[in-house]
Amino acid sequence: MLNFGNQKFKLDSVDSTNNFAAKLIQQGLCRNGAVVMADFQSHGKGQRGNVWLSKPSENLICSLIWLPDNMAVNLLPSLNWIVGVSLIEVLKKYGIQAMVKWPNDIICNNKKIAGVLIETELKGANVKSIVIGIGLNVNQLDFEEKRPTSMHLITGQYYNLTDILSTLCVQLNLWCSNLKNPLFILNKYNEVLFKRNQKAKFLVDNEPLLGQILQVNEEGKIEIKIGSEVKSFDFKEISMDF
Ligand code: BTN
Repeated sequence: MLNFGNQKFKLDSVDSTNNFAAKLIQQGLCRNGAVVMADFQSHGKGQRGNVWLSKPSENLICSLIWLPDNMAVNLLPSLNWIVGVSLIEVLKKYGIQAMVKWPNDIICNNKKIAGVLIETELKGANVKSIVIGIGLNVNQLDFEEKRPTSMHLITGQYYNLTDILSTLCVQLNLWCSNLKNPLFILNKYNEVLFKRNQKAKFLVDNEPLLGQILQVNEEGKIEIKIGSEVKSFDFKEISMDF
């Protein structure tokens, strides 16, 4: 059974924990379920080619390694749901209520508290390796941009990063064990979907669009009601302007 956290690599500084994890996999130097954690990243990677900035030692910066046995590529959308739901559960354990902005930004008080970058290596129709990169803002007080928040900014408390990582591993292990029942995970994901049943602004082909978020479907696409029509979009086709 998958057991995230059964091997830990703790680094002071690295370019990106996702890159470090990918190298460990390539060189056969890690076990399934290994976790890489760093105090600082010089080239933290975000989604859509963005950078991920995080002050040294203040936030959780980690990458979890999953080497699945015969996982079909069509299960990949459920990875977003698993990670999103797990992060929501972790935050709940610390008394923080958050939502998942599709596909897997974690939002609290309308601000981003965590980001996820999942990188996979495929072999034919199967997934050979998965690196789940997570940046969770924990103790940081001020940010260069206006949009992020942190656990400390929400509760006024300071947290131990290693404890949070252990809580995260427990939740990921739990939710990964539901992988045979993706609809169960999807239902939970849709329950915590940010702005569900609300109107939201999007960008499609650089054109603004206003629509009501209905749900995320089994293919992992977001379904949006535009006028009287329901359209579904994948990650490359649309971005939410929030
Ligand atoms: C996003 O753009 O929201 C995704 C951010 C993901 C950041 C994490 S921090 C740990 C891991 N290593 C990286 O280089 N990126 C991810």
